[in-house]
Amino acid sequence: MPKTYRIAVIPGDGTGPEVVTEALKALKAAADREGFNLELEQYDLGGERYLKTGEVLPPGLPRELQDFNAILLGAIGHPEVKPGILEKGLLLELRFQLDQYINLRPVVLYPGVETVLKDKGPQDIDFVIVRENTEGLYTGGGGFLRKNTPHEVAIQESVNTRMGVERCIRFAFDFCLHRQKTRTLTLCGKTNVLTYAFDLWERVFNEVAHEYPDIKTDYAHVDAISMWMIKNPEWFDVIVTDNMFGDIITDIGAIIQGGLGVAAGGNINPEGVSMFEPIGGSAPKYTGQNLINPIACIAAVQMMLDHLGEAAAAQRVEKAIMRVVAHDIRNMAAGKMGRTTREVGDLVASYISN
Ligand code: IPM
Ligand code: MN
Repeated sequence: MPKTYRIAVIPGDGTGPEVVTEALKALKAAADREGFNLELEQYDLGGERYLKTGEVLPPGLPRELQDFNAILLGAIGHPEVKPGILEKGLLLELRFQLDQYINLRPVVLYPGVETVLKDKGPQDIDFVIVRENTEGLYTGGGGFLRKNTPHEVAIQESVNTRMGVERCIRFAFDFCLHRQKTRTLTLCGKTNVLTYAFDLWERVFNEVAHEYPDIKTDYAHVDAISMWMIKNPEWFDVIVTDNMFGDIITDIGAIIQGGLGVAAGGNINPEGVSMFEPIGGSAPKYTGQNLINPIACIAAVQMMLDHLGEAAAAQRVEKAIMRVVAHDIRNMAAGKMGRTTREVGDLVASYISN
């Protein structure tokens, strides 16, 4: 009996639906080649639904999503909705409620893709950032005191639990071991100023390191690593960090690998359901124009296939991506590809099929 995967699809806002359409072509082509079945279910969450009904996330939905093998997300963010409502109410709420405690963001420069870094090429840019995805500054803890007065106080709390930090660091060590590159894990923190949060992170990191004698460990402050990722990206294999720092340094990662047109990530719950997404956002400016680069969303499908244990299918998708970016797309930026969104999706799907 061939396997069947149930995939929840959330196209979302802006260019999300366009890139998801192309990514699903790649997914279906890979499934056909490798002989497994797909059961796709679409969910119309996002800004349009919110503006029409006032609802961001139906209360029963996270529970319902747990019955899928994986989730594919396009983009969240609508120009007519105040920033924060959809991002927090939908994207972060799903990450939290589904306990997707890892945000895995590979930084890989494929041959033929231009990088902003002078004198760096594909041999230099190939590492993975493991971002904690359920704690830190993202939990929403804090509040106002004396709001709208000259003595206003705004407090934003960073929550770091022993359990949350430890499960993230353990995942990073395991991931680093299986990746088999240089077997170097770098902790990115700010131990010189955030002397509570990163004291805990550093203690747990050093403790868990004893269980992984084959992994070399390293530490960098977040400000310094922002510099080194640009000057010497070849130093890195796997980097582990907290939610906020991870958010920031993965944008640096995205730009050095060719930009938001190619950068993908996975919100991983190793014991539950995971959600894969292009990390670029909804790009309202390009919505509906058939100009956005779908490669990032196709790369999200590749990560999803890997996660499902369909390594051969994932490899087919990666090979097709590499072929398209090397030969068929002029520039990775939206509107500059020399191809339309649909043409790129069709090319990738045809390379997977043949
Ligand atoms: C990301 C995004 C989100 C984040 C926003 C949209 C809430 O920037 O996935 O990196 O901060 O995590
Ligand atoms: Mn971000």
